[in-house]
Amino acid sequence: MNFQRMPDKNPAMHFVKSIHDGRCEYFTDHTLLLDALLEMGIDIKTPCGGKGICGKCIVPVQGKLSGLTKTEKKLLKNPGNTRLACQAFLEGDVHALTENDWLADKNIYPAINCSDCFAIAVDVGTTSVKITLVNLSQGTEINIPAFLNPQRRFGHDVISRIAAAKDSKANQTMTRQIRQRIFKAITNALNATALPPGNIKQIVFSGNTTMLYLFFGLDVTRLGVYPFHAEQIDFDDVTYKDIDADLFPKARISALPAISAFLGGDLVGGMTLCREKGFREHTFFIDLGTNGELFIVNGSGATYAASCAMGPALEGMSISWGMTADEGAITHVRLDDGSLVYSMLGKGLPVGLTGTALIDLVSIFLTKGVIREDGAFASDIDNRQLPHPARYSDGLKSKQIRIWGDIAISQIDIRNLQLAKGASLAASGCLLNEAGCREKDIRNVLIAGAFGSHLDLDHFRRLGFIPQFPRADYHYLGNTSLQAAGKACVDDLFIDEAARLRDSVTEIELASNPDFNRKFIASMNFGNFSKIYE
Ligand code: FES
Repeated sequence: MNFQRMPDKNPAMHFVKSIHDGRCEYFTDHTLLLDALLEMGIDIKTPCGGKGICGKCIVPVQGKLSGLTKTEKKLLKNPGNTRLACQAFLEGDVHALTENDWLADKNIYPAINCSDCFAIAVDVGTTSVKITLVNLSQGTEINIPAFLNPQRRFGHDVISRIAAAKDSKANQTMTRQIRQRIFKAITNALNATALPPGNIKQIVFSGNTTMLYLFFGLDVTRLGVYPFHAEQIDFDDVTYKDIDADLFPKARISALPAISAFLGGDLVGGMTLCREKGFREHTFFIDLGTNGELFIVNGSGATYAASCAMGPALEGMSISWGMTADEGAITHVRLDDGSLVYSMLGKGLPVGLTGTALIDLVSIFLTKGVIREDGAFASDIDNRQLPHPARYSDGLKSKQIRIWGDIAISQIDIRNLQLAKGASLAASGCLLNEAGCREKDIRNVLIAGAFGSHLDLDHFRRLGFIPQFPRADYHYLGNTSLQAAGKACVDDLFIDEAARLRDSVTEIELASNPDFNRKFIASMNFGNFSKIYE
């Protein structure tokens, strides 16, 4: 395979030096401190994606940086010596104390037997990356803390990253960043568990085709132009040199097979797992994420699959107070005796909303008539209509409902959620038509994604993310992409089985499908779902 080895970085104007380990790299003037640290492979937590709401990216620093922002004045306890990495820009050389509690969470790992053999499963998501250490000797798994894909500064979805990759320098940067970030996270975990790298026998990657191409350093530009051709869909002869995995020279390295430019190993992995679990005819599957992927197995056992860009709202990005499922995140909201009640991760005051909490809030406000079915706030909202403690404001910049403290949902947040829901419902409608199925034919609805137990199915269905499927049982499967990579670590036949199944799938291409575009417009509405099947 023609993999791309990353060239060395050229020096620039200001250096950032880690006080902890002496690592030092140069960056151009006005580089964001967060970008510089991520580029250096330093493991900074950024649950809000750099929006300046979570206050978790604190770094003790000395040196010349841009002035303190309002956000930092509010969130930092010790603004003289610390900065929020997502707020400060380099204006001179900087020393950063990078060994602290935002680095690898050393205390989260159970004790392990260092003579055991391990494999590593990696789900390279468009928004988040998740990694599991698979103990091959004991049959157990240990999750490494998830992190945001550092490529997001080149765009939130695959289309914008493909566009960015037309600039070969940006392309190389995206490849270098994701490799560095993944191997840094793995190295931190190995250090924290005292597991020797030689004990890692296998690494299996999963992800959509664009993410895998960017990771492997393959040319992504042709994935984004007609006829959207993916030259390579199998990844079974990768060496450690191909991907700069110098710590693991003896590990077997592979990735789940893809179907095409739009349907990646993550979907094929999910498909294979579902089949192993016995879900065959009359099955609908959707993997919710920035890139939504779906398949239907019809009554004859034929499989039809499609993907659609849903935007990152469900993963807590592109919404005003959005964040990933990290400490301080509200993950679920419900009505209790007329008041809004939230569940959050960690202790203290909430700092932001995950995508699942946004779904709950929009569903609640829709039912209250505060949000109309077309997604707009109702005119003349009376705050007495709103459950405590929500308050509506029609500000100069945006209409919003403030919920707890400064945490609010805006009209733009609702529109971003509508984009995700519209794409998901329209893609489902196209797939049903192509598979020759009606809603009532589907008996099993399988929902995959990294939401864990936080997704409230009633609210999800109320908003119409998917057809109503009146005769179906619903099953929440979790992150099938990561699970499939984990399965491939322990089952030598899994990738072959996935490739066989892949070859039987009919792909429904939606990117240039006028029927999808028509359905997408109709599906943005929160009511009248039947329109999409006409
Ligand atoms: S990542 Fe900087 S405040 Fe959230």
